[in-house]
Amino acid sequence: MAKLSISKSAKSDTKITFVQEKSKSLIKDFEGKIGEISVHYKGNDTIIYCGIGEKKSCNDEVLRTASANAIRRATELKREKVSIIDPKIKSKGNSQRAILTGALLAAYNFTTHLSEKPKEIKAIDLVSEISKPADLKKVKSICEGVFLARDLINGNAHDIHPQFLASTAKKIASSIPEMSCTILTEKEIDKKGLGLLKAVGQASKFPPRLVILKYTGDKNSKENKAIIGKGITFDSGGLNLKPTGSIESMRCDMSGSAAVLGTMKALSLLKPKINVTGVIAAAHSAIGSDAFFPGDVYKSYSGKTVEIRNTDAEGRLVLADAISYCQKHFSPSEIIDLATLTGAIVISLGDLSAGLFSNNDNLSKNLLNSGENTAEKLWRMPLNKSHIDAMKGDISDLRNLSKLPPRHAGSSTAAAFLNSFIEDELPWAHLDIAGTAFNERDARGEIPKYATGFGVRLLINYLLKS
Ligand code: BES
Ligand code: ZN
Ligand code: ZN
Repeated sequence: MAKLSISKSAKSDTKITFVQEKSKSLIKDFEGKIGEISVHYKGNDTIIYCGIGEKKSCNDEVLRTASANAIRRATELKREKVSIIDPKIKSKGNSQRAILTGALLAAYNFTTHLSEKPKEIKAIDLVSEISKPADLKKVKSICEGVFLARDLINGNAHDIHPQFLASTAKKIASSIPEMSCTILTEKEIDKKGLGLLKAVGQASKFPPRLVILKYTGDKNSKENKAIIGKGITFDSGGLNLKPTGSIESMRCDMSGSAAVLGTMKALSLLKPKINVTGVIAAAHSAIGSDAFFPGDVYKSYSGKTVEIRNTDAEGRLVLADAISYCQKHFSPSEIIDLATLTGAIVISLGDLSAGLFSNNDNLSKNLLNSGENTAEKLWRMPLNKSHIDAMKGDISDLRNLSKLPPRHAGSSTAAAFLNSFIEDELPWAHLDIAGTAFNERDARGEIPKYATGFGVRLLINYLLKS
């Protein structure tokens, strides 16, 4: 992670300067429009001008993106140290935090497998008269969580298996006394009857794990928010094998659990006065003679039986057991799950927003708001009785594929399956991050190529209400 600081005078001769759009620009051939970037040289100094548009429309998102793009430009110029000149703009929110966050997030690149490592930004300083150490710590801690999520998602599926996710959780928990970690091994998963998690993971030499991280920052409060992540460390599709073109990115299918681990990591550094339970349902959905069969019926931890109509609809299965286990043993006051659940959400929303499905308007409103604050945008999708009915089985309680015609409302019916495991109207929201977790386009702003770490900043913003 690049070193981040706030200083009174510039530490580097590469300087990022934000420029507002005005009727008369003082810089030659530069208007200050949003997205505009231009490099100028003055003596020893390299000045990277970046446009932030008109004053009235300048907000945290504009500043975050501009700062990120400027850092990308500095990386192209092979700079290692960069100073950012504080534009002293009062944006809605916290402009310093937005600028620092954009810069730090954009300094991350996935270069593990490159024989020749490109030069990276090692130090960023924000030149400002106002220094808020608390903000600096917050930015660093949150970005550390995002980077953990990105590293886990980018890593080879052969290395980032369920046991690895479990040991990562254990490491986070052991760093502070307020956090504890419980890990169910494949034997315990079987013995306790988490039949769906068992089924999905049973063909792999990397056995499944259910991991629970419990953070108690406020012993006096009964409130306990649960965040649950899909942790399919590789989704082959199982016996309904995925075709070429769909399978290559499937090491990203644990992005939900990476977001949960990243969030718990950030909480372990920030130690806020709240209670959060993080759960990850980790399995490798493999193909082989031990694989679970399409057409067979399996029993979930809740007791509900499920007919497997398609082994590639596996995320909902592992999540169902995680949700039930969490409700029974950790009594959450609400549940938010994150999952790269459906290809259908990519058709609906592309990589521009994640799908939000919920049984609770207030929770939805707050999550939508956090998505706006962090520019990890959410869009509320329908979830109603028709979707729930479409998941009811004929020979079993439920089926894992809807009865609607093929390709009809695939994300809503997947969410409806999860909804069937939520007890007594417990406030619950499901974020389908299949389109936003893994960026196969070029890097842009704070979003790098491949793992984005989507969800960590959003969850922290929601949990900390800032
Ligand atoms: N992991 C996939 C969803 C996915 C698609 C994630 C694209 C990231 C990018 C999920 O397990 C899956 O395969 N879903 C199926 C469900 C179908 C069989 C009902 C899908 O969306 O095609
Ligand atoms: Zn699948
Ligand atoms: Zn999947």
